[in-house]
Amino acid sequence: MIRIAIILGSTRPGRRVEDVARWVAEAAGRHPAVKTGEAGLELVDIAEYELPLLDEPAPAVIGYYQNAHTKRWAATIDRFDGFVFVTPEYNSAIPAALKNAIDYLYAEWNEKQPGSSATGFTAAPAPPNNYGRPWARSKSPTYTPRSRSTRTSTSTSPNPKPASAPPANARKPP
Ligand SMILES: Cc1cc2nc3c(=O)[nH]c(=O)nc-3n(C[C@H](O)[C@H](O)[C@H](O)COP(=O)(O)O)c2cc1C
Repeated sequence: MIRIAIILGSTRPGRRVEDVARWVAEAAGRHPAVKTGEAGLELVDIAEYELPLLDEPAPAVIGYYQNAHTKRWAATIDRFDGFVFVTPEYNSAIPAALKNAIDYLYAEWNEKQPGSSATGFTAAPAPPNNYGRPWARSKSPTYTPRSRSTRTSTSTSPNPKPASAPPANARKPP
């Protein structure tokens, strides 16, 4: 089975990414590979891992993790073959919490398929693939970054629903 993690990229209290991630999971669940059991989807919430700002002495590429929170995070990400990052855009980038979670690991991400569903006021957020060096340098023959943008409401409601379909000006997958 191909295991795909749908990663929630925001840790903000009242975050909208939970609704967007559920929407993404529902849409991805309609894929024939998921329906036949060839692929499996799992939501992964970085907030549950309570990662402090990177506190590993050795760079992740060395793969020598000292802290329990890093080992737990690495064990989770290692189980997957591909990732869909569901993330808002914060100041024209991905949230610091997501970048931090990416930076914690290297081999666990490397040569696996990344994709993203990014949300923001502008409906054209930058995909997190652009910020992940393991993917930028991936030698995987199947490496094809895919991104989809959606626009979240500017309403202050804590739980607005994402649009049922991406807006016409959404960034299309390459
Ligand atoms: C700190 C911060 C910075 C933001 N910067 C941008 C931005 O640069 N571009 C954009 O389109 N939206 C921006 N937004 C809007 C968010 O992408 C949007 O509100 C999103 O739904 C927030 O996701 P969350 O609720 O899951 O944290 C920003 C929001 C916050 C809180």
